[in-house]
Order: sequence, then structure tokens, then C-alpha cells
Amino acid sequence: MTPYSTLDDVDVTNKRVLLRLDLNLPLHEGKVTDLTRLERVLPTLRELVAHGARVIVLTHLGRPKGIDPALSLAPIAHALTQAMDPVPVAFCESIQGPTVLHAIERLEKGSILLLENIRFRSEEEANDPNFAREMATWGDLYVNDAFSAAHRAHASTEAITHLLPSYAGRLMEAELKALGSALDNPQRPLMAIVGGSKVSTKLPVLENLAQRVDHLVIGGAMANTFLSATGVDVGASLYEPGLCDTARKLLEAYPQMILPQDVVVAKDLQDPSTIAIRLTGDVGKDEKILDIGPLTCQAIKDTMAQCKTLLWNGPVGLYEIPPFDQGSIDLTQTAAALTQTGALLTVAGGGDTIALLARAGVLEDFTYVSTAGGAFLEWMEGKVLPGVEALGR
Ligand code: 3PG
Repeated sequence: MTPYSTLDDVDVTNKRVLLRLDLNLPLHEGKVTDLTRLERVLPTLRELVAHGARVIVLTHLGRPKGIDPALSLAPIAHALTQAMDPVPVAFCESIQGPTVLHAIERLEKGSILLLENIRFRSEEEANDPNFAREMATWGDLYVNDAFSAAHRAHASTEAITHLLPSYAGRLMEAELKALGSALDNPQRPLMAIVGGSKVSTKLPVLENLAQRVDHLVIGGAMANTFLSATGVDVGASLYEPGLCDTARKLLEAYPQMILPQDVVVAKDLQDPSTIAIRLTGDVGKDEKILDIGPLTCQAIKDTMAQCKTLLWNGPVGLYEIPPFDQGSIDLTQTAAALTQTGALLTVAGGGDTIALLARAGVLEDFTYVSTAGGAFLEWMEGKVLPGVEALGR
């Protein structure tokens, strides 16, 4: 039994279902540019509608300070309407009591009402119990399908659960199941690959993972700080000298951390003639480390082939600029191939990681790719996410 209730535990027919989604979708000139997060919640929406619920969708967009027309949900309403066609989707251009109540009264069985940006109410981020009480009058039950907002203890993710019967939506369920199988009850050996530019932003992640995984690969510019901590001269590379002591202590405490043994360097990103492969001890003073080298890549792939589970967050090189994307692409493609044979369970998350997988053409080939950003990181840090905890039975 899951530690939280799901849609399997409730009859939603004719009920007013308050559904918290994360439709914080990227916009450009008033148009949605990436529908992934919306597509991921369609199974929950379709199931609720098919069972005759009256669905009231709550979501935030951006981080408005009060009412901000630039962060109105109108473009999201348009995208939701198209995605749910022919199901009727109404948009309530307000998140204030009386207008919302009128809109809900008009809502028919099997249809959807999207309310305006919940963060237009300052009480939302304050996790205000009075606002939660007001919201509780809008629905008969509450469903949270916004794992990517579950690291926020806000009125629509936390306080509301104390007032209405609360359930996890299908996406929330899938995220929790996938993340649980990657870190809480993984099949071992378990490898984690953590890349990115700064140790400072990922330190809590590294500290938590180092205690829990069998192999921890450090990549990206972050690895330069660790290399420097071992006495390697990283030349003109990006690194954080102030964190070398911390990095050294981590390396001493956790021998399962894997650093590059060779790297791809360049003196000038624009000048291909300056690109070279170097052993880590041979990086020139004027050279920047921009990717892992072929020896490192092969060693990681060999270890990966022995593993049963892989957790991935962050590219191991400057993946936006070829040829410095090679290490990251090679590793993702190997992981994808192992996943497809059934040998490896792969879970990835974070904005850069999704972009990398898409670039490598393997977005569909991992076992699970989380659309969460901050929530995924906090989960990797080992934190209890308030929006998940609040769903506890
Ligand atoms: C996200 O995009 O990660 C979520 O929607 C949470 O947004 P927030 O960081 O503004 O709370």
C-alpha cells in the first residue's frame, strides 16, 4: 500500500475536485513554448473527466508579487483547452472568492475550470490557513498532481490537505514511484551522475548521494573544484577555490566518488585548433576543461554496465556547445541502450538534464524523466517535500 491515497481510493463522480497542477510552463511573447508539463498531467485530467468529476484546476505561473497581467494564466488556458479538446475548459480570470464561486457553480459534470494564477493571492506562498479554508469551500476533495511544486509549503500544496480529503494524482504517483525505486529502494549497484557548473549549488545533493550510492560520478565544471582539491592544476577552468577544502573532505570520506582522469580542453572555445584531450595532470595554464575525456567516459560506461540503477542530474561537460557535448551524449546513449535491454533502471531530472537527453535523442528511452526542477534537487538532497508529506495517509 502506498503511504498516500490515490485516485484508486475515491469515487469522483459528480464531485468538485480541486486539482493542484504545476502548469508553470515556459512562455515567449504570450505563447507556451514547451508543453511537456501539461502533457504529463493529461492522464489525471482525462481520468477525472471520464469519471464525471467537476475539475477545478489550481496552478501558479512564475513568481508574481501581487496581480501581474504578464503572468496571467490566459495562455495556459488556451493550451489546456487545445490539449483537452473536446472536453470543455473554462477560464476564471480571477482567484478572488465571489467570482470563483460563481464560476464553480456554473461548472458542469465532466468539465474543467482553470482558476487564475494562485500566486496572485499573497496568502498562497504564506501557506495561510484562512486562504486554505476559503479554497476548501471550492471543492469536495483535493488532488495534488504537482510533484514539481511539492517542495513548497504553500496554501494550495500544504494547508489545503488539512481541510479536504487529499489524494495523489497519477503524475505525482508516477514521480514518487520512480524516484523511490532510484534512491529509497534501489536495485544495486546504484550509480549517480551529478554534473553542472557549481559545487555550491549541489553540495547538499552530493553529501546525501555520497552516503547512499555505490558509485558517484562528478562531472561538469563542478568536477574541476574536486580535481583542484586533489592537487590537480585545472588551468584556466571554471572552479570554486573556496570549496576545495569541503571537496577534499568529501573525497576522503567517500571513496566511491569518481572524478575525470582525462578531459577535453580548449584555450579558446571559438578556435577548434586549440581543442585537445589531456590527462588531468597535464592541463595547461591557459586551457579550460570543458568535457570528460574518452578514458573517463569508457571507465564510467564500464562501471555503468555493472549497475542496476542509475540516477542522473546534470551534464558532465559544456553540452550546449559541440564537441564538448560528446561525453554527456555518449553516457546518456549508453544509459538509454542499457535501459532498453532491461539491464538498467534509469531516472533523470532537472532542466539541463532534460535538454541534454533531448539533444542526445534519448528522452523517451530512460525509465523515468522527472519534469521537476527545484523539487527534484531537494528530493536528491534527502529532504522531505512538504507537499508530499502532506499527502501522507
Ligand atoms: C518549478 O518550475 O520548478 C516549479 O513550478 C516551482 O516553481 P517555484 O520555484 O517558483 O516555486
